[in-house]
Amino acid sequence: MAVRAVIASSSPSAAFPATFHRKLHICPSSLNPSFPVRSTNLRFHQASSRQVRVYGSTITLDPLAKVLHNNSEEAGYFACPICYEPLIRKGPPGFNLPAIYRSGFKCQKCNKTFSSKDVFLDLTVTSGMKEFNEIKPVRTELFRSPLVSFLYERGWRQNFNRSGFPGPEEEFNMAQEYFEPVAGGLLVDVSCGSGLFSRKFAKSGSYSAVIALDFSENMLRQCYEFSKKDESLSNTNFALVRADVSRLPFASSSVDAVHAGAALHCWPSPSNAVAEISRVLRSGGVFVGTTFLSTRLNSPFSNGLLRPLGQFVSQTNSSYNFFKEKEIEDLCKSCGLINYSSKVQQAFIMFSAQKP
Ligand SMILES: C[S@@+](CC[C@H](N)C(=O)[O-])C[C@H]1O[C@@H](n2cnc3c(N)ncnc32)[C@H](O)[C@@H]1O
Repeated sequence: MAVRAVIASSSPSAAFPATFHRKLHICPSSLNPSFPVRSTNLRFHQASSRQVRVYGSTITLDPLAKVLHNNSEEAGYFACPICYEPLIRKGPPGFNLPAIYRSGFKCQKCNKTFSSKDVFLDLTVTSGMKEFNEIKPVRTELFRSPLVSFLYERGWRQNFNRSGFPGPEEEFNMAQEYFEPVAGGLLVDVSCGSGLFSRKFAKSGSYSAVIALDFSENMLRQCYEFSKKDESLSNTNFALVRADVSRLPFASSSVDAVHAGAALHCWPSPSNAVAEISRVLRSGGVFVGTTFLSTRLNSPFSNGLLRPLGQFVSQTNSSYNFFKEKEIEDLCKSCGLINYSSKVQQAFIMFSAQKP
């Protein structure tokens, strides 16, 4: 179990004078149950009042813990995409859309700052760069287009049913079953697109927080548009983050659940992506993904509503990365994940694997 605590430090370093985050393994049974339990990021502080044992070390839970926790708890979710150091947050407390947009984030190691552009927090390596411009492979760039982002939940995604995708409601229920062991934890919906699953996860109440993450600015804008119309999301711990799946802005072993719907075939490097997902998952954490298997049936755009886009899509379609089931299993296992299992229907596969 992951635990957040304040620990006494008699000689804080010059680089991190009063407060900084660090990861420790904590024996949960030694902690007061009323103490906030959620993350492996621990906040160091000099004051002291109560002491508990942490695998042989003494840690101190101090009265200021609650104040610090209230003001900075959420910063613990995000890490610098360059050095993976936890980001320091300045701004109003709360892990909800308005509070995060009004906050600034900074890496104390590389001094890079991050803020919300429009409606999402940009945690890409290229965030804030003025001259440098990097073009990703077409399977990533395609989804950055405003038109594709707009159409995605308005016909594009429904077309996947032709290849065996059961549809968002059923896929959500299937994923929730896989995520049962990590209920109550932090879920990151990687490559969330317009957030059709992120919103369902957030509304389910099954998670302490949900982060909808995508590389596409326009997909995240769509996600925001859908979210703000849904009042039931206003009181949930829900954030929109722009990031590259190959460089996830989270500390190692800090995430309980990663969902990646219809995404593996779109990633520039599926192996870097799954390795990165494995890195951020904590022990026992669960990864659930869906994709199109490499079969004759895996051309979701060849018929139906989106036929007019056929020519455009067929040019890009050939650049998707479709895999056979054995390859996906091999990929998960090679990235250190265990307990692989899957459900297949035509070209649709939902697979799950766990961090040991
Ligand atoms: C087919 S959509 C899937 C959307 C949604 N998860 C679903 O189940 O329908 C694939 C998504 O992967 C995202 N994507 C592509 N390359 C990515 C990358 N390098 N990092 C993060 N997301 C990426 C795209 O922007 C797009 O939103």
